[in-house]
Amino acid sequence: DWTPASFVEETVAMLKEKIGNKHVIMALSGGVDSTVAATLISRAIGDRLHGIFVDNGVLRKDEFKEVLETYNEIGLNVKGIDAKALFYKELAGKSDPEAKRKTIGKLFIDVFHEEALKIDEASFLGQGTIYPDVIESVSVHGPSVTIKSHHNVGGLPATMNLELVEPLRSLFKDEVRRVGLELGIPSDMINRHPFPGPGLAIRILGEVTEEKARLLQEADHIYIKALKDKNLYNEVWQAGAILLPVKSVGVMGDERTYEFTLALRAVSSVDGMTADWSHLPYEFLADVSNAIINNVKGINRVVYDISSKPPATIEWE
Ligand code: XMP
Repeated sequence: DWTPASFVEETVAMLKEKIGNKHVIMALSGGVDSTVAATLISRAIGDRLHGIFVDNGVLRKDEFKEVLETYNEIGLNVKGIDAKALFYKELAGKSDPEAKRKTIGKLFIDVFHEEALKIDEASFLGQGTIYPDVIESVSVHGPSVTIKSHHNVGGLPATMNLELVEPLRSLFKDEVRRVGLELGIPSDMINRHPFPGPGLAIRILGEVTEEKARLLQEADHIYIKALKDKNLYNEVWQAGAILLPVKSVGVMGDERTYEFTLALRAVSSVDGMTADWSHLPYEFLADVSNAIINNVKGINRVVYDISSKPPATIEWE
């Protein structure tokens, strides 16, 4: 019978056998899959696993710091790379969604490659590929932060000559979560909503700037924190805020404002292929709207997205 405990035991033994005394490099995203995969590898080879976590400037508020702290708690050997400035520079002037995805995907590979070259003893590349990634032969999306194998094989220079290690290849998401809990990974990490590789960049419609990223981080943080405080976070499959390039007139005290509009999105789904908008309580939406407008200067209007997928998609870009 399959149990998380037996899976951990067998997989760690298999990884020891396969990797021997060699080293593994791996990109970590803060997501469930890469974290669980890395923890299994680390159980097998300790600090000969070299994790790399990149701040691309479009992570959630405080995410870089908090995720690194969690990795530290779990005992993973991970290096955080602050590449924010590079990403903002290359994103400047780009407003097409696919151009933004490509820019982020390419920069990510560049940054990861540069770091990987410094670890010259590495012979393996760890990845958090899970079974649905294996059967999804063609992705409609650009490279994600947990680079899927079909992206990655084409992404990293072949001269690096790394062999793949993918301990979760046979598992479904719920099994990955159970294995993660078995490994003692904090449940906050295990129950995180999915988050796209291009991050907030595809939730800032049009051109991404540092200032817009900061605005969206603040607003998104208020929304996600409220979902958690009201015990609604685990009721929805994915939630986030979207910064629209639309300014409208408002009034604050006796002053006229002319500021951006924010859309809130929350959906229920099984696998992201189809999704229904979540019927969040009106009072909750009202409180979040007030909190955002009162606390985030630059946003004076909040709307709620009531579209389902299809025909809409979950992300707006
Ligand atoms: P859509 O917008 O296509 O999203 O309905 C379905 C799921 O995929 C995520 N998503 C992405 N994930 N890179 C990713 O790693 C991407 O470019 C990307 N685009 C969308 C989205 O967050 C949702 O969970």
